[in-house]
Amino acid sequence: MTGQDDPFCLTGKRILVTGASSGIGKQIALTCAQMGAQLVITGRNLERLQATADALCGSSHLVVAADLALPEGLDHLVEQAGVLDGVAHAAGISKLVPFRQINQKHLDVIFSANTYAPMLLTKGLLAKKQIAPGGSILFIAALASHSGALATSAYAASKSALLGAMRSLALEVAKQGIRANCIAPGYVQTPMLDGLGQGGGSMDELFALTPLGMGEPEDVASTAVFYLSDASRWVTRNYFILDGGLSTPMDIYA
Ligand SMILES: NC(=O)c1ccc[n+]([C@@H]2O[C@H](COP(=O)([O-])OP(=O)(O)OC[C@H]3O[C@@H](n4cnc5c(N)ncnc54)[C@H](OP(=O)(O)O)[C@@H]3O)[C@@H](O)[C@H]2O)c1
Repeated sequence: MTGQDDPFCLTGKRILVTGASSGIGKQIALTCAQMGAQLVITGRNLERLQATADALCGSSHLVVAADLALPEGLDHLVEQAGVLDGVAHAAGISKLVPFRQINQKHLDVIFSANTYAPMLLTKGLLAKKQIAPGGSILFIAALASHSGALATSAYAASKSALLGAMRSLALEVAKQGIRANCIAPGYVQTPMLDGLGQGGGSMDELFALTPLGMGEPEDVASTAVFYLSDASRWVTRNYFILDGGLSTPMDIYA
């Protein structure tokens, strides 16, 4: 099976990827372009975003730098993005903060980037009919919502919220043939995880629990292609845990 006959092919689809300047979002953009998509990529760091753009297969991709935790950043992206067949929301932040140390400011920062930004961006695009019929909306959530690792309360809560948002959103957009789904990755080797691991040995012990070893951004990107392509045309309100087998052993240790 080749080209347009391949249900995983993204040729003819225009896909927005947030967080495309680093890690998982960057790899989703690269893999979607390899599968034939035309990309709109966004992130805050223009230099790293441009490096992603330079590495994309194909042409006519669009680069939009924007801070999605700010209303003006969201408005700017919606204005620039045009009509889309898919959106992969990969932008996010993580910081280890014990529950006794969380405060309003920490919650605001984490929820603005991880929860409000994908919800408000989706709302802005839908309000202007910028997600085409048959389109796919994909949120990158996190296994942390289930595993509840130490010092991740705010992060885990911000990602759990995406599950509820996605399930309700998917009901509302189904009549337009638009789908909404979540991928919840376990530990994936990215700059975000490198940053968390700098704390020392206990993180390394956690990472080592994954039966298939740590994931690579390519593992999430391949799954994202499924959700953004016609291969998943009958899949919506779905929550896919992608964790190299981590969650079952963690249940045993709990
Ligand atoms: N790595 C893991 O183990 C793991 C596991 C589960 C879930 N996830 C989720 O996967 C997603 C990608 O994570 P990653 O590991 O690839 O992290 P990463 O390498 O740190 O990349 C994060 C991306 O999010 C963007 N971003 C953050 N805040 C933003 C904001 N306010 N406005 C616009 N863009 C913003 C960053 O842009 P700039 O760099 O340009 O600022 C960057 O492109 C996140 O949602 C994360 O929670 C990761």
